[in-house]
Amino acid sequence: MLVNIAIDGPSGAGKSSLARAAASELGLIYVDTGAIYRTVGLASRRAGLPLGAHDEVVALLPELNIEMAYDAEGKQRMYLNGEDVSDAIREPEISMYASDVSAFPEVRAFLMQMQRDMAARGGVIMDGRDIGTVVLPDAPLKVFLTASERARAERRCLELRQKGSDCTVEEVLRDMRIRDENDSGRAVAPLKMADDAVLLDTSELDFEQSLAALKQLIKEKFGL
Ligand code: DC
Repeated sequence: MLVNIAIDGPSGAGKSSLARAAASELGLIYVDTGAIYRTVGLASRRAGLPLGAHDEVVALLPELNIEMAYDAEGKQRMYLNGEDVSDAIREPEISMYASDVSAFPEVRAFLMQMQRDMAARGGVIMDGRDIGTVVLPDAPLKVFLTASERARAERRCLELRQKGSDCTVEEVLRDMRIRDENDSGRAVAPLKMADDAVLLDTSELDFEQSLAALKQLIKEKFGL
């Protein structure tokens, strides 16, 4: 059995920080698939396209060379046509572009193989929105990580403030709702819990408790 773990859930549920921590403790590779969609979102923004520019984004795809690599510290880096865009894709305005382009079926198809290749030999914890349902439907362990809207907005706001933003929880909540509706309401590969996923609600758990719960699921499934 390949040790592949799919983690899906809405934004701000703590997927990336938990998956990254679990991967580093257990010697697995953490794959952040949101970063790939963010890279396409960045390309669309840089091309000066507005949100919803389906035809233009599709026309842009053949010009995009997107690569994922790991640096000496094991951190995932994203490259767009040879340029390291790992920091640029984290700008808050890119979140909405990523969500926007991710609703286009052609964009999802364009990025699919890259994600599957990463998991082909096993040993990955991959997070996103459709990993358990579409990208890795055979993953032996699927976790749907969620938390209440408010808890997610509070965590995300704290994270942004640590990076120097002066956001308010209300603003973050508003953007998060738009993005969640977009990600859950789209026709192709919407955010949805796989039938065989385990639900992990972290609303009442702190980071350490959430990590312990995730590691317990991994231990039960793989003995790691
Ligand atoms: O995980 P994130 O917030 O960095 O993802 C950015 C956007 O990318 C998210 O709003 C939806 C999209 N996405 C997706 O559609 N499918 C994935 N597997 C991962 C992300």
